Amino acid sequence: MTKPSEKIVIFDTTLRDGEQSPGATMTHDEKLEIATMLDEMGVDVIEAGFPIASDGDFAAVSDIARNADRAVICGLARANLKDIDRCWEAVKHARQPRIHTFIGTSPLHRAIPNLTRDQMAERIHETVTHARNLCDDVQWSPMDATRTEWDYLARVVEVAIKAGATTINIPDTVGYTAPNESAELIRRLIAEVPGASDVVFATHCHNDLGLATANALAAVEGGARQIECTINGLGERAGNTALEEVVMALKVRHDIMPFTTGVDSTKLMAISRRVASVSGFPVQFNKAIVGKNAFAHESGIHQDGMLKNAETFEIMRPEDVGLNATSLVMGKHSGRAALRSKMKELGYDLADNQLVDVFVRFKALADRKKEVFDEDLIALMQDEERQSEDRIKVDYLRVVCGTEGPQEASLRLVIDGEVKASEATGDGPVDAAFNAVKALVEHHARLQLYQVSAVTEGTDAQATVTVRMEEDGRIVSGQSADTDTVVASVRAYVNALNRLMVRREKGGTDGREISYKDVG
Ligand code: KIV
Ligand code: ZN
Repeated sequence: MTKPSEKIVIFDTTLRDGEQSPGATMTHDEKLEIATMLDEMGVDVIEAGFPIASDGDFAAVSDIARNADRAVICGLARANLKDIDRCWEAVKHARQPRIHTFIGTSPLHRAIPNLTRDQMAERIHETVTHARNLCDDVQWSPMDATRTEWDYLARVVEVAIKAGATTINIPDTVGYTAPNESAELIRRLIAEVPGASDVVFATHCHNDLGLATANALAAVEGGARQIECTINGLGERAGNTALEEVVMALKVRHDIMPFTTGVDSTKLMAISRRVASVSGFPVQFNKAIVGKNAFAHESGIHQDGMLKNAETFEIMRPEDVGLNATSLVMGKHSGRAALRSKMKELGYDLADNQLVDVFVRFKALADRKKEVFDEDLIALMQDEERQSEDRIKVDYLRVVCGTEGPQEASLRLVIDGEVKASEATGDGPVDAAFNAVKALVEHHARLQLYQVSAVTEGTDAQATVTVRMEEDGRIVSGQSADTDTVVASVRAYVNALNRLMVRREKGGTDGREISYKDVG
């Protein structure tokens, strides 16, 4: 009889570590929606936020905790009693709450709060004990574990276990480790630290060297049974281990990695698109599993092979990740019923009133484009969702451009229900149009990123535009898609300004400036 495969706990931190990517801030409702999707797809633990970081984070973690059906809901706390109490206040509403507390243990991180090794060990004992008195499920992380001296790491892991931690997470905070070292570190901790066999070891890998998924899977090889990851690999700097990569790697190579997960892989594509949309971080075309090209075959030899037998060039089927093998192309003669069923296929269940709005936009698009592909409809839906709650909306834009400058823009915006108009010139149509926006919406945000990509092929393709801006430490991003690149640019800019207004109202920098000095 074959031994049943061991289950790997999938810990998703899109809403905490993922949201820490500069510009990836999500609204309260967006966080709730993503948490529901994660819960429904079978993620075991959702790290919903960092409750002490801001009132907004606290409210999101509390509401996610109240709503979750299946998943453990976890909140992050630094190594001080105030953080831990605040975290407990937020997660305690969950059926299965977890407190995750951490402290930087490497020499570089120990220097920040200026604690000696003994003082830090004492602090770990005190804070983990406090967390455990509040909650039965406590996770502890030595931040920058992979650059912590072995003897000290082993010592503090033991302290945390003795104080009652139930999961020990070993973060590769700066993406420094490599697969063999990652496996060996976990193996050695389990073998040598007293009490290690009573807790679950977790791996949390950053992707600075592009090794995050490989390091996480190697840690499993070494004995870790929880993988921390994010949708689309979102996260600080180069991001984290991507959830979709881990889930599919374990599925496709079950022969050499005999582990299972409770994640329904057919929901991966839908959540990937949704996270890309709400975070403003588009998925790179060649991203494994969820990138636009992950299942596209360009070269003749590949296309020929695919037609004869898909397995020649694909190690998994598009359906396995929630992509449709055959896709019905929509056009201007398609009716409401066809649109509704197509949207359902793409993961959008439209209510009657929403269908009316989306149908109007679809018809307008189909008038400008011969064939409307799935990607066009997804871009349209994402735009619809982004703009529904915006206080500033684009009503009219006309741009004059050509070889003779300066280019000119006439713009009308609806701001809190009031129509306002402006005219401006600039170096190129986008610059002119952005100047027209600036004339109506006062701000001193600096444009950090302006990125255009085509949704599909052809000169009538929609362009998706992403902008990222920074004002007083607040970083926001905006996105939009349209067959007119300048219209898409202005809508993306306005979308970012809407987010900026929300952030300004919240005050501060949304907790992003929170410092590690407060470990005690
Ligand atoms: O990367 C890291 O070390 C973290 C910790 C807070 C777990 O995100
Ligand atoms: Zn991290």
